[in-house]
Amino acid sequence: MSEVAKPTFEILSGSREVSADGQETFVAVSKRSEPHGPKGKVYIETYGCQMNFSDSEIVLSLLHRDGYGTTDRIEEADVILLNTCAIREHAELKIHHRLSSLKPYKRRNPKLVVGVLGCMAERMKTKLFEEEKIVDLIVGPDAYRSLPNLISLAETGQKAANVFLSLEETYADITPVRRAGISAFVSIMRGCDNMCSFCVVPFTRGRERSRPVGSILDEIKLLSDEGFKEVTLLGQNVNSYRDTESGVDFAELMYRVSLINPQMRIRFTTSHPKDISEDLIQVIAERPNLCKFIHLPVQSGATTVLARMNRNHTREEYLSKIEMIRKKIPDCSLSTDIITGFCDETEEEHQQTLSLLQEVRYDYAFTFIYSERPNTPAAKKMVDSVPLAVKQRRLAEIVALQQSISLELYQQSIGKVYEVLIEGDSKRSAQHWMGRTDSNRVVVFPKGSESVGDMVRVRIVGATSATLFGERI
Ligand code: SAH
Ligand code: SF4
Ligand code: F3S
Repeated sequence: MSEVAKPTFEILSGSREVSADGQETFVAVSKRSEPHGPKGKVYIETYGCQMNFSDSEIVLSLLHRDGYGTTDRIEEADVILLNTCAIREHAELKIHHRLSSLKPYKRRNPKLVVGVLGCMAERMKTKLFEEEKIVDLIVGPDAYRSLPNLISLAETGQKAANVFLSLEETYADITPVRRAGISAFVSIMRGCDNMCSFCVVPFTRGRERSRPVGSILDEIKLLSDEGFKEVTLLGQNVNSYRDTESGVDFAELMYRVSLINPQMRIRFTTSHPKDISEDLIQVIAERPNLCKFIHLPVQSGATTVLARMNRNHTREEYLSKIEMIRKKIPDCSLSTDIITGFCDETEEEHQQTLSLLQEVRYDYAFTFIYSERPNTPAAKKMVDSVPLAVKQRRLAEIVALQQSISLELYQQSIGKVYEVLIEGDSKRSAQHWMGRTDSNRVVVFPKGSESVGDMVRVRIVGATSATLFGERI
């Protein structure tokens, strides 16, 4: 059963940055709507993927239930929490720097509790206490229910940690505390059983488990009632979603979600190419509010690299999935993730990644330099042999090629008319709106009498490789 009490927290600001190595950071800061609570004020910063962002909303909900307030002003916090990512070395370095920058707050207020949550907490466990003296609290992604107790313990001056991974925890009964807005993330599963050889996630988030279908549908119904216009279903590998009681799979879940409010846009991330099914493509093709946009990470265009990565599919199998998508949904946009410079990657293998980009013609690619993560299968069995300079050159080639493809695709939109969901002001001008098409393309157009959350028809009149420019019709 989901908890239906209306949240009294509001996440005030949630900005999304993408740094040079492609690392996405959501910085979500929150504020309690009641100024005084029985317990102290919590300040939380979130790094990493949407899953972490969604977890921070759960953390706020759990702490609120226990009487904590939150603040968006770090200087007035009694508890500072960093919800961290461990996917690449750079993600962890960023947290070490952030922890150093918190030292003055601790000097000013020795009672301040500093906690590290999320994937880096899980990966490093109590070793983080040794490396970062400022840290009082370490809590892994499956242990957030113990946060109130652990904070109380830390407040008495003890170090407190819980990094147990669970086979069952899905926080299905917790109503996340959301920023009022038009778009929300909903976790449908946790963990990952895939063991891609480069990846730390199976170690930081544990075994895969699906959240009961009823609690997902209830939460989305609530979001629809609250006026949210778009929901993104989240999981590391959503295609293996399965409700253990009813046997509902991901395609069926998408179908049921699409019926809740036919005006609500439904997105999802991430699909693993080996598991994406014809049933899913069929349901996306048939239901108008399931967005015609699929993020399908390929990582490399070379079958040999895919084998070393333990991705369990070949280049040809991937391309045949793309063909299936294109056949059933001709206007479907695609995006992907690429890792460049994986162990022993040859020039020839790199060329195959470039040729795959040309063949598929993604709207967008998130590109990363391979970063060896301790204790992953790749770190144990292979050598991170590609020199950094070579990785950087290959990355630059991939980025340049993808940019030219994106530009061509975006220019083909000129003259076409799209339904655009208005998300807010354009970053560059308060006289313009920023919104997205169903296929996830960003559209900027001059403001009229419409408002945020409206769905409007826009004709495209110009394009760069990342933005469409339009006018309302
Ligand atoms: N579950 C998702 C991926 C989550 S991580 C999926 O399977 O698609 C997001 C992306 O980070 C991955 O797709 C991969 O491209 C990248 N990534 C993961 N581990 C990495 C590493 N060790 N070095 C560089 N990039 C990595
Ligand atoms: Fe990592 Fe692979 Fe799981 Fe994605 S599917 S989280 S890349 S192990
Ligand atoms: Fe997400 Fe980073 Fe963890 S990408 S799952 S927060 S390692």
